[in-house]
Amino acid sequence: MIAAEDLPCLKAIALRGGCRSPVFVSTQSIGEMLGISQQTASRRLKGLETAGLITRTMTPDGQHVTLTKTGEEELRCEYLEYGRIFSDSGRGYILSGTVVSGIGEGKYYMSLAPYKEQFNTHLRFEPYPGTLNIRLSPSCMPVRKKVEALNWIRIRGFSTDGRTFGDARCIPCRIDDVKCGIVVPGRTHYPEDIIEVIAPIALRRKLGVEDTDSVSVEVG
Ligand code: CDP
Repeated sequence: MIAAEDLPCLKAIALRGGCRSPVFVSTQSIGEMLGISQQTASRRLKGLETAGLITRTMTPDGQHVTLTKTGEEELRCEYLEYGRIFSDSGRGYILSGTVVSGIGEGKYYMSLAPYKEQFNTHLRFEPYPGTLNIRLSPSCMPVRKKVEALNWIRIRGFSTDGRTFGDARCIPCRIDDVKCGIVVPGRTHYPEDIIEVIAPIALRRKLGVEDTDSVSVEVG
């Protein structure tokens, strides 16, 4: 098992081609690459050699380094683990919270044709008139920040009968197998811990949930 601090050094050599042929490195260049001192770099290289992860041929101005088969295997294990982290099975971000009631505004806004049409175009479903409000658990707030950084779809505001309706943004999501969307009104001062979800169907009925019940939304 490789020591955690040796891994970046092994990776740096491999990135220079050290799995396929000897690469010339100086302790200075490796040190610079890893942000460590020349002495530490020198110790790391020695450590990697002792652990059987690299072989070295010394020259007066540096050394030729090649990863051994064991060294390459160590990196491959790491690579496979990253594969698992980023694979399809570990897809979207999960936002969990509990169902809360709002003041019945969602039904009104979601019944306005210009909004409905845009959601239909972008999310590919006609929204059930209303939004399911979910109060996110505090532990999900960092995930919410990541979701904020994803690509949101702009929903344009409009004017009708002398009233102006503002912009909003939405992003596709899923609850269980139901295709939904998170909608955020353009208003400033919107509570950060609440998300509003729209769906083609009545979610409370479909999921059998009421206020204070837990739900999880998957985004991305
Ligand atoms: O303001 P509040 O969220 O309480 O109500 P609303 O947005 O006007 O939505 C009307 C009702 O339908 C609420 O109880 C929502 O939770 C619910 N709803 C639902 O079950 N499924 C949806 N896809 C949208 C709303």
